[in-house]
Amino acid sequence: MSDSSSHNNHNNDHHKTPHELFDEFLNKAKELKNRAEALDLKSKYLGKNGPFSTILKSLKDVAIEVKKEIGQQCNTYKDQMELLIKEKLEELEMYEMNRALEEKWIDITLRNSNREMGLNSAGLHPVSIVQREIEDIFISMGFEVLDGPYIEDDHHNFTALNVPADHPARDMQDTFWFPDKKHLLRTHTSTIQVHGMEMHKPPFKFVGPGKVFRCERTDASHEMVFHQLEGMMVDKGISVSHLIYFMKTLLSEIFRRDVDVRLRPGFFPFVEPGFELDIKCLICQGKGCSVCKKLGWVELLPCGMVHPNVLRAGKIDPSEYQGFAFGLGLDRLVMMRYVIDDIRLIHAGDLRFISQFKAY
Ligand code: PHE
Repeated sequence: MSDSSSHNNHNNDHHKTPHELFDEFLNKAKELKNRAEALDLKSKYLGKNGPFSTILKSLKDVAIEVKKEIGQQCNTYKDQMELLIKEKLEELEMYEMNRALEEKWIDITLRNSNREMGLNSAGLHPVSIVQREIEDIFISMGFEVLDGPYIEDDHHNFTALNVPADHPARDMQDTFWFPDKKHLLRTHTSTIQVHGMEMHKPPFKFVGPGKVFRCERTDASHEMVFHQLEGMMVDKGISVSHLIYFMKTLLSEIFRRDVDVRLRPGFFPFVEPGFELDIKCLICQGKGCSVCKKLGWVELLPCGMVHPNVLRAGKIDPSEYQGFAFGLGLDRLVMMRYVIDDIRLIHAGDLRFISQFKAY
């Protein structure tokens, strides 16, 4: 009710009989929604300047009997109203309390002790464990660890890696493109090779771990988001024998046991020659399972000698410097090491899964 209307009512109030006022009050009391409104109504009708006081004041000049009768009438109504407001206030208080209880509901049966605290209880994610270990292996061999962004441009993901526009090799990796058609989620960590060459003059050697993204159907051995660890070494006189030496050292350090490996030719536009290094599946011992697609071997380490065009794009003269590069599939490695038969567990975020892993 606005000020001006209450003022108008007030002007008319001395024309209303106590009974009319009481009726009016009852109607308004039905509409009350909260305690503030109830208190407001109380002060309007029962307050010092309320309509009943006005009536009583206006009785100054009337006969004593009339004064008495009307005065009594007023008091009876006022008592009733007082009581009604009191009840209403209690009722509204209950209502408000119940509503608050409903809204601010807490399930006290929820387990709140023993909150999982990363390192303290659940431990590191198996991918982090393996990634850190491999970083340490390479750091001990004098490699640097580099990082790179998830969002890349065409240049870093393709062109600088000897995959020009319209090259069929772009279809080898199903790419998540941004609507501007210029940016993408990196499909491999080879983008870090390009960043590394921008940052360093040869000789250099570094690894670059991280998530990569491909628009693929998921199954036990395929995920849309997975992890790679890129490696690149550029120096004078680097040959395939350096590549093989570093890969063998890596695998014997990681598995702490002899693993059967085989080298097959592999095609990647950014290496020449290119290889696929496979290891005998440690889940089925080479018998064939869902992880190795019944082949008995798992593709683990694509690698090769850095293509001269890649060196040139990185402002390195291929007649002076050579290099090798590799792109280790971290998830598969984790699966081999811990005997996990479904890659989808790796990103599922289930603490019961994650808390099972300890560093070797
Ligand atoms: N980037 C390649 C891929 O993701 C792997 C690779 C890296 C191959 C480095 C050779 C050298 O498929």
